[in-house]
Amino acid sequence: MAGIYIHTPFCKKLCFYCDFYHIISSDDNSAFVDALLKEALLRKNYLGTETVTTIYFGGGTPSVFSITELDTILNHINKLFRVEGNCEITIELNPDDVNSDYLRGLKKLNINRISLGIQSWRDSDLKMLNRRHDSAQATMALRETFKAGFENVTIDLIYGIPGMSQKEWASNLDFSFSFDIKHLSAYHLTIEPGTVFGKMLEKGLIAEIDEEESNSLFNILIEKAESAGFIHYEISNFGKPSYFSIHNSNYWKQIIYLGLGPSAHSFNGYSRQWNICDLKGYIKSVNTGKSFFESEKLDSKARFNEYIMTSLRTMWGIDLEYIERTFEKEGYDYVVNLAGKFRDYGLMKHDKNTLVLTNQGKMISDNIISEFMMPDDD
Ligand SMILES: C[S@@+](CC[C@H](N)C(=O)[O-])C[C@H]1O[C@@H](n2cnc3c(N)ncnc32)[C@H](O)[C@@H]1O
Ligand code: SF4
Repeated sequence: MAGIYIHTPFCKKLCFYCDFYHIISSDDNSAFVDALLKEALLRKNYLGTETVTTIYFGGGTPSVFSITELDTILNHINKLFRVEGNCEITIELNPDDVNSDYLRGLKKLNINRISLGIQSWRDSDLKMLNRRHDSAQATMALRETFKAGFENVTIDLIYGIPGMSQKEWASNLDFSFSFDIKHLSAYHLTIEPGTVFGKMLEKGLIAEIDEEESNSLFNILIEKAESAGFIHYEISNFGKPSYFSIHNSNYWKQIIYLGLGPSAHSFNGYSRQWNICDLKGYIKSVNTGKSFFESEKLDSKARFNEYIMTSLRTMWGIDLEYIERTFEKEGYDYVVNLAGKFRDYGLMKHDKNTLVLTNQGKMISDNIISEFMMPDDD
């Protein structure tokens, strides 16, 4: 079992909060598509004999690809890798790129999961975030997606946007659940240094919301999503039964994956690799046989930290049998001893052989996770 991630670094407009690797789109994707195809060929053995069960077009904005370009990429992947017949194929779409022709084209390519970057249904938020679309376009995009016959549809929302009240967040969620979406990714706004919001924060033009307000918004999210029939399977992710993102779940379950495109990450079980965040440099290096990535071998401590970081964010939690099998008695004792304190505070549950965060624990998941991290020796 393995996944393939394809990163498209283009965006037509830069959102004020975003620090994912992206640049303003060019009209011509051909040099980039060629490089992607070359990279896939160069790395066709990366996944060994594993079957590809998920493909994910992420970004940036993969909806800048034409249907023909997507077809070329998928055909190439199908030739180079063993792709399972019922492979989950996701594409992230920006609402203003959506139209019925494009959706019909995606359906013909057997793309079977659509992720729409809605962010908010309120025009004032969308303006503040510097999104390209307004709420009318978002509504239209979601309706068209269902009309085109897509069933496995997920949306992204952001909360904790300065100026958004609890009532407005609740009505954003209610409106989302009035559609037959099967999945929701809801992210708390993080103000990243170097972004427009980061600079506005430095100048005191915006402020981060306080912890108490963040917790209230998170509670509203959990309550509304659960009463609409969604399962909270990862801190920021909610799915109807059997509609969890297989691709993302596999990241959290340490399944191997190949990442293609600038800034894409790969993992083969014992090392991590990340491509350079520079489109021109990436294309040039792929074409001239130069190295276009950095990598790091994961020692036992790094693998332990990665496992804790990803598993504690999920409803499956830390599997203590896995810990004992992989990190021996020392790793097992370390985890169980540390967990005791969090359990006593009601932040963690020890259920049979798993350790999972309670809802209260999820609110401070980053702090709890950092307490579990094993420090470097030096
Ligand atoms: C990198 S974007 C790609 C999706 C697509 N380009 C779009 O914007 O619709 C993936 C998602 O991450 C979330 N995101 C990105 N930066 C964020 C931030 N600073 N705080 C909270 N959510 C963020 C947004 O919800 C976004 O839809
Ligand atoms: S949120 Fe999406 S569209 Fe906006 S800059 Fe980031 S990747 Fe591009």
